Amino acid sequence: MVKINDNYRHLKAGYLFPEIARRVKAFAAANPTADIIRLGIGDVTEPLPPACCEAMAKAVAEMGDRATFQGYGPEQGYGWLREKIAAHDFQARGCDIHPDEIFVSDGSKCDSGNILDILGHDNTIAVTDPVYPVYVDTNVMAGNAGPANERGEYAGLVYLPISAENHFVAALPDRPVDVVYLCFPNNPTGATATREHLQAWVDYARAHGTLLLFDAAYEAYITDPSLPHSIYEIPGARECAIEFRSFSKNAGFTGTRCALTVVPKGLMGQGADGTPVELWGLWNRRQSTKFNGVSYIVQRGAEAVYSEAGQAQVQALIAFYLENARVLRERLAAMGLTAYGGVNAPYVWVKTPGHLSSWDFFDKLLHQCHVVGTPGAGFGAAGEGYLRLSAFNSRENVQQAMARLAAIAW
Ligand code: MLT
Repeated sequence: MVKINDNYRHLKAGYLFPEIARRVKAFAAANPTADIIRLGIGDVTEPLPPACCEAMAKAVAEMGDRATFQGYGPEQGYGWLREKIAAHDFQARGCDIHPDEIFVSDGSKCDSGNILDILGHDNTIAVTDPVYPVYVDTNVMAGNAGPANERGEYAGLVYLPISAENHFVAALPDRPVDVVYLCFPNNPTGATATREHLQAWVDYARAHGTLLLFDAAYEAYITDPSLPHSIYEIPGARECAIEFRSFSKNAGFTGTRCALTVVPKGLMGQGADGTPVELWGLWNRRQSTKFNGVSYIVQRGAEAVYSEAGQAQVQALIAFYLENARVLRERLAAMGLTAYGGVNAPYVWVKTPGHLSSWDFFDKLLHQCHVVGTPGAGFGAAGEGYLRLSAFNSRENVQQAMARLAAIAW
C-alpha cells in the first residue's frame, strides 16, 4: 500500500478556518433563520476596485484576440508588473529592491508554506505564540516540528510568546535560531512593529545567520507614518530577510489571487557541506519548476492597483475597513471589554470576559449574538483567553454585530 507523509498525522485536528466554518455551518443548519454576521476569517467583503475590473476586462478581450493572446507568462511574473511593484512598494520607501527580486505568485499564504521547499530540515525555527497557523502547520507537514504535546505545542519549534505585557511584540530568542517568522501588522493581534524593533531583529539575524520570513500582507493598513511597511526599510535586511506581500487585503484579491515574494539577490543560505548558496537562485528554480505564474488577466488587474485611479480606490477600501476596526474597538471598550489592535491593522484582539475560554466565548457569540469571531486559542496556546474580530465586513454588519454584543450582559 502507498506510504503517506506521516508528518500530516502530527497536525492538530483541522486547519483553523475550515474548523470554524464547520461549526458555523452546523449552527446555521440547526438555526436556519439566524442572521449570522461573520467577523471570523480575514476575508474581504467589498468588491474589487473598478480600476482593477476595467484592466481585467480589457485583458480578457486581449486573450480573445489572436493578435494579443498570451500563453504561458514568465513564472516570476510579467516585467511590467514587477517594475511597478518595485517602484511603488519598495523604491518609493527607500528600499533597495529590484524588479528581478520580486516573484509574483497566487498568494502569500502559499508562498509562506512553499518557501520551506528551499530550506533544510534541520533548522531551528521560531514562531510567535499566538501566530498565523500556516507557519506552524507547513513546518509540521515538512517534518520540521515533530509531534505536538497536549497544549498543541510542537517540540521542534521555538515559541516566542506575545501578550499584552510585551505589547504583542516578541522579545528576541534567548538562543540562536535559524529561521524566524515575523508578521507585521500582526495577524492575529493587530500589533505593529516600530523601526527600532525591526532593526533589533535584523541585527540579531545578521549576528546569528538567521533568515527572517517577514509577512507584510497587511502593510497597507499602516497609517502611522513612523511605522515601517517593509523589512527592507531597515538597514541590513537585504542580507537576512524574505518578504511576503499580497494584493488580497489592500485591493480585495482574496478570490482573484495575486501576491508576491521578495528574495533579495545576495541573501545566502548554506548547503549541508557548508557551501554558501544564494536563496534567490533556489527560489527561482523552485518557482520555474513547480509554478507557471499568475494568469495574465489577474496580473493586469494587479497592475491597475498602481494607476492613479487604482491607488485612490485602494486607499478608500483601506479607510473603509479601518473605520470598521475603529467601530469595533470603540464599541467593545464601551461594553467594558478589553481589545487590542485595530488601529494600523484590520484585526481586533479581544480579551475574553469573565475568564471564558476562547472557544466558550466563540460559542457564546455564535449562539447568543449570531456573530462569528476566531478563537484566539486557534492561533496557539498563548492565544487562549482571546478572540479575534475581523474588520472585513459591511459597516451595517459591524454595527449590527456590536449592537448584539452590547445587548448581552458580560
Ligand atoms: C485569516 O483570517 O487569518 C486569514 O484568512 C489569513 C489569510 O489570508 O490566509
